[in-house]
Amino acid sequence: MSQQPIGIFDSGVGGLTVVKALTAALPRERIVYFGDTARVPYGIKSGNTIRRYALENVRFLERFDPKMIVVACNTASAAAMDYIADKVEVPVVGVIEPGAAAAVQASRTGVIGIVATETTIASRAYERAVTALAPKARIVQKACPLFVPMVEEGRVEGQIVRLVAREYLGGLCELGVDTLVLGCTHYPALKEVIRSVVGAEVKIVDSAQETARTVRAILDERDIAAEAGAGGTQFYASDNPERFRRLATLFLGATPVSVTLVEPEDFFSGAGAISD
Ligand code: DGL
Repeated sequence: MSQQPIGIFDSGVGGLTVVKALTAALPRERIVYFGDTARVPYGIKSGNTIRRYALENVRFLERFDPKMIVVACNTASAAAMDYIADKVEVPVVGVIEPGAAAAVQASRTGVIGIVATETTIASRAYERAVTALAPKARIVQKACPLFVPMVEEGRVEGQIVRLVAREYLGGLCELGVDTLVLGCTHYPALKEVIRSVVGAEVKIVDSAQETARTVRAILDERDIAAEAGAGGTQFYASDNPERFRRLATLFLGATPVSVTLVEPEDFFSGAGAISD
């Protein structure tokens, strides 16, 4: 099993922050990454829709016989983790629990801020994950819906970005937040601006790093980590692979050599008629 790849999906390019962290931590692992660029953004869609998309993405990744699935999307982790985990044989890792654990560890005051998409915030998944570990923690949540389109347009600094960040985050420090979780794949790209608004003393948790640690722990525990080989990532996208390549650089720190288009009929299977 150790030579099988790790399957990772996100709504688009943002999950590449997880690929970057994983590649640094586990350079021998082969990764198959699927970005659902045809249906991004997930962050404003309902839980039922996200669960259907997530299951279709997993079914696509299963063709590569992965040893593990990583849900590198906060919105899909928030809405669909249990739903998917019930339907696959291999371990499924999301980004919420690792991020919550890192926040609990970092916080001194117990006042933890979470910024994420509307759907993630509405699901209260971070709140549950944090309070499961630290029942007395106080959670301050804020949806920041303009952040994703700004990053997708390559706007990660400048006046407009600072203005939007101030509008969303200005009040957090007054509420005593000492740790802020970037609960969306795109937000690490805005880390510098976010830091300038919340102040250097607020600890910023980026769940990609923590997720890589969790993946490593599970691979070691099951003794299925790749022992040889050069690793590497194959990239797939459900629309506009050229745009994916361009944007990927921002999240991955490198431009993928090639991105393969997955035609809709290859994975929009109607994989799950879903009811809550
Ligand atoms: N990947 C999503 C997340 O982490 C952000 C982009 C989207 O809304 O699809 O929540």
